[in-house]
Amino acid sequence: MKINIAVLAGDGIGPEIIEQGMKAIKAVCKKYGHDLTYKEALVGATAIDRTGNPYPDETHALCMASDAVFFGAIGHPKYDNNPSAKVRPEQGLLAMRKKLGLYANIRPVTTFPSLIHKSPLRPELVDGADFMCIRELTGGMYFGRPQGRSEDGDTAYDTCIYTREEIGRIVRLAYTYARKRRKKVTVVDKANVLATSRLWRQVVQEIEKEYPDVETEYMFVDNAAMRIIQWPKSFDVMVTENMFGDILTDEASVITGSLGMLPSASIGIHTSVFEPIHGSYPQAAGKNIANPLATILSAALLFEYAFNLTEEGKAIRDAVTASMNAGIVTEDISQEGKASKTSEVGDWIAGYISRNFFNSSI
Ligand code: IPM
Ligand code: MG
Repeated sequence: MKINIAVLAGDGIGPEIIEQGMKAIKAVCKKYGHDLTYKEALVGATAIDRTGNPYPDETHALCMASDAVFFGAIGHPKYDNNPSAKVRPEQGLLAMRKKLGLYANIRPVTTFPSLIHKSPLRPELVDGADFMCIRELTGGMYFGRPQGRSEDGDTAYDTCIYTREEIGRIVRLAYTYARKRRKKVTVVDKANVLATSRLWRQVVQEIEKEYPDVETEYMFVDNAAMRIIQWPKSFDVMVTENMFGDILTDEASVITGSLGMLPSASIGIHTSVFEPIHGSYPQAAGKNIANPLATILSAALLFEYAFNLTEEGKAIRDAVTASMNAGIVTEDISQEGKASKTSEVGDWIAGYISRNFFNSSI
């Protein structure tokens, strides 16, 4: 099969983790006989430095012309404490999501037996937790207008907007996934306070009738934040608006043991994007210590979601599990004194993929 991808490494640790992800992608393509072509493009702070635009037109054109986008991370500390910066790296990510119509961000939360000891939660609470957070990605406060300041600069405002159509399409997607899983959807909102949340609830109450085989649960976001920690195994598919999903998925990564473990797939109208949920971790940039597993697992999602190649996705996932079982992991999840470098983890995983046969028919 032809695999034609755009590679957007971005800022901070982006380039080094993407390099490891590409090693896995190349190993899989070689093994399964796929014809891989890829092109790199600028995004984020790096793109601002070179072009003044965090999501240049050429980058967008490349994304549109590709079958999938493999994305690293963006963000740079020089912008974080500079509230008056006119252009920010994050705007590049938001522009990409909006222009590609990526309304659904799928963040699977699973645990790894060899990592259970790293979770701050008790093992019996975490062991076997397996849920999927579906975050709405192109609406809500991230994109609502007006946004800004009053003329005197002393008042600021953001606007949260959702339409029936935006809610309906993501909710239906959640039900579709729930049907393939344990048939439970948890709708997370703040309907006791927010008008947008009340519209979410109303729309879901209409749609849930079409899925009588799926259980629907409604939960306020504050309660959900607590339940994720207290009883993670009670969730199957969670669906929520943009900002709540952003916050709850960082929280959910704790269950896994490290923020460096969670991959994501963003899907919608045009080309899908695959990226780790963590940020650009500037303190670690260039040090070869960042955990590449969330990115490598995002490569597995790329094969599965963009190309429907499940064997290939599984090959990557199995290799990741094997690397953890072998203790070939970065310092955030290693046992005392036995940390591997970012590039060593990537090499080991690519080597494992090349050496092992996964397809039972071979
Ligand atoms: C994420 C990130 C982004 C977001 C930032 C970098 C804009 O935190 O993908 O979760 O808030 O969506
Ligand atoms: Mg986030």
